[in-house]
Amino acid sequence: PARPRVFSGIQPTADSFHLGNYLGALRHWVALQETHEAFYCVVDLHAITAGHDPKVLRQRSRVAAAQLFALGLDPERSTLFVQSQVPEHPQLAWVLGCITGFGEASRMTQFKDKSQKQGSDRSSVGLFTYPILQAADILLYQADAVPVGEDQRQHLELSRDLAQRFNSLFGKTFTVPAPHIVKDTAKITDLQEPTAKMSKSSSSPAGIIDLLEEPARTAKKIRSAVTDTGREIVFDAEGKPGIANLLTIYSALSGRDIDDLVAAYAGKGYGDLKKDLAEVVAEFVRPIQERTRGYLDDPAQLDKLLATGAEKARAVAGPTLRLAYERIGF
Ligand code: ADP
Ligand code: NA
Repeated sequence: PARPRVFSGIQPTADSFHLGNYLGALRHWVALQETHEAFYCVVDLHAITAGHDPKVLRQRSRVAAAQLFALGLDPERSTLFVQSQVPEHPQLAWVLGCITGFGEASRMTQFKDKSQKQGSDRSSVGLFTYPILQAADILLYQADAVPVGEDQRQHLELSRDLAQRFNSLFGKTFTVPAPHIVKDTAKITDLQEPTAKMSKSSSSPAGIIDLLEEPARTAKKIRSAVTDTGREIVFDAEGKPGIANLLTIYSALSGRDIDDLVAAYAGKGYGDLKKDLAEVVAEFVRPIQERTRGYLDDPAQLDKLLATGAEKARAVAGPTLRLAYERIGF
C-alpha cells in the first residue's frame, strides 16, 4: 500500500537553523522519510508577511534548503522545494480565503500575538491570512499527516476545518490532515533564559545555538549558559531548568539516556558537563556544516535539486488545484 503523506514547511527567516529547530522539528522530518511520502517546503511566501530584504531572503532560502539536504533530507525519497516556485500555493490560498470567515481568521492567536508586537496598524494583510496560505500548503498535497508543535495546533485545526468545509460545499476534494504528534519531542530552551524557548527572536544571540556557527562560539555560549547555584547534576526541569536543558541537548545529540548521563556525571561539576556538551555539539555540527557548504559551493547543482523538487511538487499540486477549480465552477 502507498505510504501516508506528510507535509511540513519552515520559514527562511534566519541565517541558520538553530538547535531548537533541529531537535523540535527537523530531525523528525528526516525520520519521517522512513515511513511516509514526504513533502517539505521552504516557505518563502510566508517569510514576506512581516517585512524583509530581497537579497537576504534569497540567500536565506538557499541556505535553508542546503541545510535541509545536509541534515539528511534525501531528494530521491522526499520532495523538498521552495514555495514561491509552485504557484499553486497562492492560487489555492485565494480559493480557501473565500470560504474562511473573517471572524474565524480573526481568532488566530498567532496573528494576535505577532500583530500586537508590531502594532496592529502596521501588520500586513498577508500576516492576517498567513494561516490560509498554510492550509493551501497542506491541502495541495492531500497530506494525511502534519507534524505540529503546540504553537501550530490552531492553524492545523483551521486547515482541517477548511478541507471539511470545501468538501461539503463542493464535493470530496481534499484529504483532511491529521496532526502527527511526535512522542519524544525535545523542547529546547534559551541558554541565557532557560525557562524561555530557544528562538531566533530570543533577546540575546548568546541564548541560541545555530547549526552553522563556529564550534568555538558555541563552546563559549555553552560555558556561559545560565544555570542554578547548585553543584549537583540532576534532571529537574522545574528546579534546575538550565541543567535540564543542557542534559536534554546532550542526550538528544549523543543518543545516551538522560539517566545514564546523570549517573556518568555523579560527583562531577557543571563545568565538566558544559565542556563535554560543547564537544558533542561540535561533533554533531561538523559534518552538517561541511555538507551545507558543499551545497552552497555548487549553486548550479542546488538550483537543479530545487527545480526538480518544484517539478515533483507541481505534479501533485497541479492536479489538486485543477480538481478544486473544476469543483467550484472555473
Ligand atoms: P523560531 O522560534 O526560532 O522562530 P520557528 O517558529 O520558525 O522557530 O520554528 C520552526 C520549527 O522549529 C517549528 O516546528 C517549531 O516548533 C520548532 N522549534 C522552534 N524552536 C524550538 C525549540 N526551542 N524547541 C523545540 N522546537 C522548536
Ligand atoms: Na517563531
